[in-house]
Amino acid sequence: MKKGILGGTFNPIHNTHLAIGIAAKEQFSLDEVIFMPSKQPAYKKDVKIASETDRLNMTELAVRSIGGSKAGFFSSDFEYRREGNTYTWETLTLLHEAEPETEFFFIIGADSLMNFDKWVKPDVISGLSVLLVAPREGVSDEDVRSKIKALKERFNSDIREIDLKKDATSSSEIRNGSGDRDFPLCPASVSAYIREHGLYGTDSTTFTKEDIRDFFDKMQHTLSPDRFMHSVGVAYMSSCLAYSYGVPSDKALVAGLLHDCAKEIEKNEMERLCDENCVPLTDIERRIKALIHARYGAYLVKHLYGIEDIEIINAVDNHTVGRPGMSRLEQIVFCADFLEPGRKYHCEPSLDELRKLIFTDIDKTTVLILENQMDYFKEKPRDIDPRSMETLEYYRNVLRKRGATEEK
Ligand SMILES: [Fe+2]
Ligand SMILES: [Fe+2]
Repeated sequence: MKKGILGGTFNPIHNTHLAIGIAAKEQFSLDEVIFMPSKQPAYKKDVKIASETDRLNMTELAVRSIGGSKAGFFSSDFEYRREGNTYTWETLTLLHEAEPETEFFFIIGADSLMNFDKWVKPDVISGLSVLLVAPREGVSDEDVRSKIKALKERFNSDIREIDLKKDATSSSEIRNGSGDRDFPLCPASVSAYIREHGLYGTDSTTFTKEDIRDFFDKMQHTLSPDRFMHSVGVAYMSSCLAYSYGVPSDKALVAGLLHDCAKEIEKNEMERLCDENCVPLTDIERRIKALIHARYGAYLVKHLYGIEDIEIINAVDNHTVGRPGMSRLEQIVFCADFLEPGRKYHCEPSLDELRKLIFTDIDKTTVLILENQMDYFKEKPRDIDPRSMETLEYYRNVLRKRGATEEK
């Protein structure tokens, strides 16, 4: 097996990184090329670096844009999983220990090659891998050749050149990019990710401060003081969770704030309004107010509050019983409704334990919330919406599959 390793900050990954990976794979008959984002390097501490999660997500999207695993291209969080500074010689040593039969090709740019003898343990790197060098604008072919010759003599390195057009694309140029905040030097999926997540100064907000103030005012005049405070609690918790799960926090805040907008309408009136406005209701929803208000709330979010965003509408629609395959925003609002700071009730594990857990494992938290709901309704099984069971089964299965993967 011949594997190419292409490391970098990938802040963000761009088309030239991909072109280098593709050329290396073709020209040296590699079976795989692994794109491996690095941890935040000490020497770049002053530069705005996207989070490790964002850089890995962008790398995965970029890899998929060139065919992904089927084409022999992979992303890897191998560097993230190590403590402290990560050095290339260590990475290669660990890779070699894990796969002694694999021949590793370490891919670097010509600019990095010029400093290769100043890296930590260049002799170890040379002993464990073939170095593949990609040309780089600003470094002459002559300089590259003489450097290769010197390194071969000093470290007995096997260094080969990748045949590729010179390119000057740099991640910093992309970060500081064009005014319209499009990123044409990245794959389209990466460009969209940057905008959606508001990276590098792009603005991902959907709502202005005035919009949000207006929603707060409307809710305060619609709901009783206790219900309004509950809604503020859900808005607060949802917007905090949004940062953990890569969701725009303004959307999470608005969805959390509005989730109970129909809660205090009288039940018969709400049923009449649903029928009048063609909002479909199941038998159990007609029977139980705690269910119907989510349905009519979703209608109001769209028609009274003027929100078109389907994720927000779905988050309100499904906040009582969830649904299989919720978006992260739906899942956040579903859980925040049960865990917002003003809630006080007994559950197993305790509310505070769940409030802590949700920031690292929202799928497990979803299961535990639903199990507590089932327990609460065990004396009144007729009041359990079958969708709760479907949601619970779906997320139990997510945990099962995850467990199976982790065991491998
Ligand atoms: Fe509710
Ligand atoms: Fe609620």
